[in-house]
Amino acid sequence: MANIVVVGTQWGDEGKGKIVDMLAEKADMVTRFQGGNNAGHTVVVDGTQTITHLIPSGILQNKTCLIGNGVVVDPKVLLEEVDKLLGMGVEINADNLLISERAQIIMPYHQAMDHAREAKKGAQKIGTTGRGIGPCYEDKAARKGVRFVDLLDPEVFDSMVREACEEKNFLLTEFFKADPVDPDAIIAEYTEYAKRLAPHVVDVSVVLNQGIKEGKQVLFEGAQGTHLDIDHGTYPFVTSSNTVAGNVCAGSGVGPGQLNEVLGIVKAYTTRVGMGPFPTELEDEVGNKIQEKGAEFGATTGRRRRCGWLDMVLLEATARLNGLTGVAITKLDVLGGLDSLNICTAYECEGETLNFFPADLKVLAKCKPVYEAMPGWTEDISGVRNFDDLPENARNYLNRVEELLGAPIKIISVGPGRDETMVVKDPFAG
Ligand code: GDP
Ligand code: IMO
Ligand code: MG
Repeated sequence: MANIVVVGTQWGDEGKGKIVDMLAEKADMVTRFQGGNNAGHTVVVDGTQTITHLIPSGILQNKTCLIGNGVVVDPKVLLEEVDKLLGMGVEINADNLLISERAQIIMPYHQAMDHAREAKKGAQKIGTTGRGIGPCYEDKAARKGVRFVDLLDPEVFDSMVREACEEKNFLLTEFFKADPVDPDAIIAEYTEYAKRLAPHVVDVSVVLNQGIKEGKQVLFEGAQGTHLDIDHGTYPFVTSSNTVAGNVCAGSGVGPGQLNEVLGIVKAYTTRVGMGPFPTELEDEVGNKIQEKGAEFGATTGRRRRCGWLDMVLLEATARLNGLTGVAITKLDVLGGLDSLNICTAYECEGETLNFFPADLKVLAKCKPVYEAMPGWTEDISGVRNFDDLPENARNYLNRVEELLGAPIKIISVGPGRDETMVVKDPFAG
């Protein structure tokens, strides 16, 4: 029995949604603990693709899904997601979708500020998803954010929105030369959302801890990836939350002692969407091939994802920062058909070898990846269900990655479908 944390190990889109859905079969509860609808998590069941942005990926397995206090929630997007899933015949009710009363709410002025900031930055922009994530976390840290408890109290909500709009509209119109927002319209719109969401609002920490006491198994579903972490990522080209496993505790209200397993999701190559450094990026035919075969388009914004080789310098930091106890390798099938595969084992910077990911982006800009080449394979491996049945070169690639990572490979994914997976070691076994 184990409570498992699932985190992205690179820059997001590693296939967390698929792995969480698959693991959720054996779990009782699935919880998001950070991020918001900047996430896009894809699950494919019997050929049907479902992308969720806020609702944990366990919903398709009919498990209790929780949105922790560390998540920033856009109620409009959440309700759209609920309606879409209901339309597909998925059961959603006040018992299986629970939202923390302490979770922060994304307001229309957060989105307006996100767009205005990016527009003002021009070429220096971060390339955010434009969902208002950063400005919402800014207000949280400034102690003026709106939480679900506030939304559910009409008087408090009214005065908070009016006060916020005064400041935001000054900034929007005077500093950013953008359009203002209308507090009356916001209050009217959000009052309707409050009515629908009220039955789902609970103390998530209490529910989680009671469940754990009763022997229920919990999955914690990370969003984004370790190198988009606000502290440990490629700052400032990061998101505005801590994406590392340690934030499970602060973001959902459980203690570190309740966590048994930290499973990192590693894409067999690297991708990044948005701006920011990417040492192993391939701006050539091989990169295009991976992008096309891997269908690497953002699940939230539809943007083309930048592609490159697997980077073990990046992953060393990931394993260390999260205390990974195991990994799932995804999209191994996408690498099939390439003559030779590169694994980056170090960076070279002005004649020096770097084994650790630098904090200084100026240093990083000078880093050249040092590659170890491995022969590729031509076979289609999407039908393989046993490690031993993989082509020898695929096994060699995985063995080398495991050796360099220092964490065991527990799951191998060879296609987007729930069943296109091999479990080498059961993560629930700890
Ligand atoms: P997440 O944000 O980490 O949940 O990942 P996304 O859903 O944004 O992106 C992963 C994409 O890869 C989705 O389109 C998945 O359906 C797909 N995918 C996941 N695992 C595999 C795999 O092993 N092989 C292939 N070909 N596609 C996969
Ligand atoms: P999942 O959970 C990939 C990126 C954005 C941008 C930066 C900041 O699907 O892996 P933000 O809107 O968060 O302020 O944008 O972070 N980003 C992601 N990239 N996958 C994600 O989520 C991401 N969430 C944010 O592209 O570079
Ligand atoms: Mg995604």
